[in-house]
Amino acid sequence: MENQTESTLNFIDKDKIPTDEHKIILVTGGAGFIGSNFIRYLISKYPNFKVINFDKLTYAGNLNNLITIEDNVNYVFFKGDVADPKDVKTAFEQFSPDYVVHFAAESHVDKSIINPDIFLKTNVLGTQILLNYSREHKVQKFVQVSTDEVYGSIGNDLNVNEEARLEPNNPYSASKASADLLLRVAYQTYGQRINVIRACNNFGPYQFPEKLVPVIIHNALNNIEIPVYGDGKNIREWIHVEDHCRAIDVIMQNGKSGETYNVGTGNKWENIELVEHILEKLNINNNIISYVLDRQGHDIRYSVDSSKIRKELGWKPQIAFEVGLDQVITWYTNHMDWIEEITTGKYMNYYDDIYKPRMMETQ
Ligand code: NAD
Ligand code: TYD
Repeated sequence: MENQTESTLNFIDKDKIPTDEHKIILVTGGAGFIGSNFIRYLISKYPNFKVINFDKLTYAGNLNNLITIEDNVNYVFFKGDVADPKDVKTAFEQFSPDYVVHFAAESHVDKSIINPDIFLKTNVLGTQILLNYSREHKVQKFVQVSTDEVYGSIGNDLNVNEEARLEPNNPYSASKASADLLLRVAYQTYGQRINVIRACNNFGPYQFPEKLVPVIIHNALNNIEIPVYGDGKNIREWIHVEDHCRAIDVIMQNGKSGETYNVGTGNKWENIELVEHILEKLNINNNIISYVLDRQGHDIRYSVDSSKIRKELGWKPQIAFEVGLDQVITWYTNHMDWIEEITTGKYMNYYDDIYKPRMMETQ
């Protein structure tokens, strides 16, 4: 696909003097799950923000996620690869962004265990290339959308704050931790204005059905076995994607440069409890659950202390877990067409690659 920038370039004033009334935000990975939610959030909340969606459209990127705002005058899509300096240079020269919010990443742990190399290329090298051009173009702030997984597995009854050691245990989290360190260098060595955001597991509409919540709902609605890794007792902390988007917004605009902020809810579930809870809501029998071979190096528990963003920036989650879960179940039920489109073809090959070896070894 060609870069779709020409028709909507008229709002860009190349010699602009950035003001509070006029901000250009370059969002990378905006065709993915969280990025597309963030772009819809920005477009609906800030009529004075111009949003550039820079995305390579990998298997996880889907422009249908943005169909409701694709004609908005404040939105532009630019097809590009963060790991390709030519693409990044072109985008920065064309749009001269005030802010960069960097979501673009290979994001799935299971995939990273099978093929780590692309995670390093996109998540580490891609971040450095964006930082280089952000420095050259005097971007006001670079916001890195990181993850709580950089802290590794957290012991029972503990929550980690932003000072905790980075102890990633899989190629995905190692690549995200590496990118966080590059942000630190950008701040310390080059004086760039930056923030790092480490949120817990997100759920919400438009999440690709490779992650736990959409796998549960999609499989349950289609009468496909729900694969639970290992004994199902691993613990994850869950946040609705809109609460994460609000946190990113507040950090982008008010976060102190150089700081890292954890974003969490305290809402933690064992995987098996969450699977059973969603099945109960759907009125589907637990016998659809299938225990499968565990993930290698599977982190047992994630749990962040998010008091810093609450105290310093006044953020707190607004969506009660049960309300969010009901909304997401309804969304998936009403968007079978969205799921069908991506669960054909390439997705089915992916599904077989990830799950077949697990199933065979447990039979
Ligand atoms: P996703 O996989 O749904 O979307 C990733 C997007 O990045 C896709 O649109 C894809 O096309 C794009 N992309 C991938 N490689 C690219 C490249 N080389 N150049 C340009 N674009 C590229 O991911 P997500 O779940 O929306 O996660 C977004 C970010 O948030 C990631 O950085 C992830 O590490 C972080 N995060 C995710 C979660 C979660 O629970 N999903 C939690 C905390 C942090
Ligand atoms: P996932 O959604 O992949 O997020 P992450 O690994 O980044 O936390 O997985 C969430 C948890 O659910 C994790 O402990 C692995 C487990 N899981 C399953 O048991 N079955 C599945 O099919 C998937 C995708 C995940």
